[in-house]
Amino acid sequence: MSFRTPILSTTSKRLSIIRFPPSTHRISLFRMASSSAAVFGLKDSTLIHNQGFIDGKWTDSQKGAKIVVTNPATLEELGHIPEMGLAETQEAIEAASKAFKTWGKTTAKHRHDILMKFYHLMKQHEDDLARIITLENGKPFAEAKGEVAYSASFLEWYAEEAVRTYGETIPSAFPGLRNVVIRQPVGVVSILTPWNFPSAMITRKLGAALAAGCTAVIKPPPETPFSCLALVELANQAGVPAGVINTVTTQANVVEVGKEMCTNHTVHKISFTGSTPVAKLLYGYASGTMKKVSIEAGGNAPFIVFDDADIDAAVEGAIACKFRGSGQTCVCANRIYVQSSVYAEFASRLAEKVATFKVGNGLEKDTTHGPLIHERAIEKVETHVEDALKRGAQLVHGGKRLTSVGPGTFYAPTILSDVPHDALINQEETFGPVASLTKFETEEEVLKLANDVQVGLAGYFFSRDIGRVWRVAEALEVGMVGTNTGLISQAVIPFGGVKESGLGREGSHGIEEYMNTKFIAFGGI
Ligand code: SIN
Repeated sequence: MSFRTPILSTTSKRLSIIRFPPSTHRISLFRMASSSAAVFGLKDSTLIHNQGFIDGKWTDSQKGAKIVVTNPATLEELGHIPEMGLAETQEAIEAASKAFKTWGKTTAKHRHDILMKFYHLMKQHEDDLARIITLENGKPFAEAKGEVAYSASFLEWYAEEAVRTYGETIPSAFPGLRNVVIRQPVGVVSILTPWNFPSAMITRKLGAALAAGCTAVIKPPPETPFSCLALVELANQAGVPAGVINTVTTQANVVEVGKEMCTNHTVHKISFTGSTPVAKLLYGYASGTMKKVSIEAGGNAPFIVFDDADIDAAVEGAIACKFRGSGQTCVCANRIYVQSSVYAEFASRLAEKVATFKVGNGLEKDTTHGPLIHERAIEKVETHVEDALKRGAQLVHGGKRLTSVGPGTFYAPTILSDVPHDALINQEETFGPVASLTKFETEEEVLKLANDVQVGLAGYFFSRDIGRVWRVAEALEVGMVGTNTGLISQAVIPFGGVKESGLGREGSHGIEEYMNTKFIAFGGI
């Protein structure tokens, strides 16, 4: 499943499957493992693995097929991972189920200590982990380091949550009875993650699962598997026992793997981050066996600038929010609404800032923005820009592929103004570096525009009027609001959306999603 695209695509121009004859398989693997590690140029090359991980063992695919992973900035090959399928997925689920029998009974303090070790190992290897992210995802190294810090913070947060999974007692309605509530891990969890945060979306889910006492089967995205595999290596070093974390890598078999992860009776919960269409499909699969579900799906965040806003702060907020990850985050501003009296000033200051961006290879020091993940991502951006221009929008900046930067999938940071409400870019998530500006007159009008979509993950607005701040924050139909800020993401917040943006919360309320509440009545007292 290509989790950030609206189709169940099993092909990608950045990824291809190769098959090795079984007889040469081991030798090829040995060669690939060492050459791949060299390509990454890490201080600690043991972080690079070219295999999946099942029941405590690094594992190849049974059929010998491989997926080639490339760097989106250079289109050079980074290495291979196994193309696994149904058999390996079932094996991984079985291993997780077996491991749950002991891991689920460990003390919260034990799990806390292991998670904290895992956290410190991440900190210790932060440069290497960031380098892996930059190479496979394309985001600039400084931003990748920010992601590693964000990613590690989930482990710290959940370690501290593990020891606070309190139960309760409830005064009884009947004499001679005592009511006690305990919380227990749900069991085996399927974790399906996207490529836009190759590290943080793993720990956001895995940290909660481990802290609660669950075991996991992870399917990382085929575009960015190496960050996940490096985390599995560190989890092993931290002392996570065999079978507690399993990783199945796939691209061509994504439908059968994803379906098994969401329908297998032994799995009791799925956690998915990705596009809304794929989320709906997985939710449907999971419903057959009534699994618990956490879904963080697509957004289409409104970003509103009122005429009483601090315009400098609003411009800074828009830059941070719109262009983080080259616009490839689910909480990125997608529709920028600016009140008419400050519209021209905001647009020209935004354009001045965007003109200073340096798009390029994320490993180069002065690069501020990297490539898009693959060709399909560029095509979607191009479609949205062309559609907006056809409908009367004006091109203020950018608006084209950047072929001069390198062979990779680069697109110019772009600003469009006067974008009509019915343009595709205002109707669906673009997931690219395009700021779409639309003018509005009144608070009532802009709230109607902001809420006129089927999704509701994040929303942002800038205003110095305290009454308006409360009104608009309450009125926006989203799960998370940023007022006078463009950056909201932290491990400590209840991260999640409303409407078709998802179900459940990760981060501060995240551990709840991995636990069952059990009521026990003590009679005969
Ligand atoms: C996402 O894009 O899926 C997550 C963004 C974040 O955690 O800030």
